[in-house]
Amino acid sequence: MTMTAPAGLDVSAELTDGTHLIGGQWVPARGGETIDVINPATGDLLLRVPRGRAEDIDAAVRAAEDAFPAWRDTSPTVRAELLYRWADEISKHEQTLDQLESMEVGRPHWGPSPLPGMVTYFAGQADKLTGMTLPTHGPNTLAMTLREPYGVSGCIIPWNAPAPLMVADVAPAIAAGNTVVLKPAEDAPLTPLLLAKLAMAAGIPPGVINLVTGYGPEAGAALPLHPGVRRMSFTGSPETGGKVMEACAKNLIPLHLELGGKTPQIVFRDADLAKAVPAIVRSITLNTGQICAAGSRVLVEPGMRDDLVAAVSQEFGKVRVGPWYERVDMGPLINAKQERRVLGYLDIGREEGAEVVTGGHKLSGEKFDRGFFVEPTIFQRVTPDMRIAQEEIFGPVLSVIDYTDEAEALEIANGTKYGLTAAVWTSDVGRAVRLAKRVQAGQVYVNTTGFRGAIGSPWGGYKHSGFGRSMGVAALEEYTQIKTVIIDGDG
Ligand code: NAI
Ligand code: MG
Repeated sequence: MTMTAPAGLDVSAELTDGTHLIGGQWVPARGGETIDVINPATGDLLLRVPRGRAEDIDAAVRAAEDAFPAWRDTSPTVRAELLYRWADEISKHEQTLDQLESMEVGRPHWGPSPLPGMVTYFAGQADKLTGMTLPTHGPNTLAMTLREPYGVSGCIIPWNAPAPLMVADVAPAIAAGNTVVLKPAEDAPLTPLLLAKLAMAAGIPPGVINLVTGYGPEAGAALPLHPGVRRMSFTGSPETGGKVMEACAKNLIPLHLELGGKTPQIVFRDADLAKAVPAIVRSITLNTGQICAAGSRVLVEPGMRDDLVAAVSQEFGKVRVGPWYERVDMGPLINAKQERRVLGYLDIGREEGAEVVTGGHKLSGEKFDRGFFVEPTIFQRVTPDMRIAQEEIFGPVLSVIDYTDEAEALEIANGTKYGLTAAVWTSDVGRAVRLAKRVQAGQVYVNTTGFRGAIGSPWGGYKHSGFGRSMGVAALEEYTQIKTVIIDGDG
């Protein structure tokens, strides 16, 4: 079935061409330039957004500074109420947000939106942040701690899941009383713009959420260097994360970093393959593999490798690839640069001596030629030192690696610079416990890949995957600093 037009969403009816949000005003970039946002499935223009630069970041930080004292002093119950209203607005526009994200990222519908639940989670936390009372040496001394917001919080997010990544930063930041300047990715800024518009509609005061669109080296680089910014969070590549960290070092401000992963799927002989195989396939094809938690490595015993690879390969054959508005499971990659990167890794894998089981090429034909489509690909006979086993490809490319025993499986699982998530497939409880405790990752899944299975689970990495936690109570606490107050009641 082929539909000619992406069903029904008129982007210019939702958002104004060429404006971003500073101090509650929808304004163009000061320099007047714009960036084209395109639909990666077709190459069509979706909307133009401002090409913000340091001067626009400066205006946004000033607006966020101006809004901060009143927002900090707003009753947390009122802040919670405003966040609940934002969640309501998001629910009312759930389909529009989903379509818009599909159009700019190129992904098919993902299922029920996580966004309202993410916002209500932090709304519920807003008026439950507490300090503690402290024991004192003297009988007439009173001491306590207060959790206070930092002030202006800068957030830089990538393009792969712009809506959840925006909410994961902005909701805890403002719930705790900070104000925000957000710089979304140049490839996918539209869903964040719509979310910001809905926040305004919900009554979140002007200047509490500011959004500057623009390129990384222009708008993004200026944000962590701005003296008005008191805290940063960054999600994206390790290379850019390192630059943001250097800027934070110059500015002496704290930073939350989330930098991707190389998730191992460790499969044991006693695993329930009927459950494991579809989960393994979905984990690497969802969002065309452009997910920091994508299960990009399968670790397997040689004795069961051929059966597992055959089953995974058969399931890969069922993955329907095409433009998001058709009935497909997997869309295109985000842009030409990402396509070059993924095709480059396909060449590297072959040169390194890995064996292509299925896929391995760019897709061509009428349906594919205007977008950045690649085949979902399985490599086997991958050794742990190969680049395709070590580096984040950020595409639908699965590396199958052999191990001999549990100890070696663990060594391979931990043998990359990353440590974001890991999955263990086994029916042996003892093994599940041993691996869950020894795998170096911020989240470990046993017999699931479902990071949405838990409510409020802290999210973030070990090692080069980053530090700090988004989601959960930990996220809200990270957006506060602790002040100790000591009152001497004598004389
Ligand atoms: P990137 O890390 O360069 O971009 C992420 C964000 O950083 C964007 O908003 C971008 O505008 C901004 N940025 C770029 N340069 C900057 C700078 N000098 N200062 C401040 N901000 C800057 O990632 P890119 O180039 O889009 O993708 C490259 C690779 O990064 C991908 O192939 C993938 O491996 C990885 N990546 C990982 C993500 C994750 O969720 N962990 C998300 C996106 C990319
Ligand atoms: Mg980049």
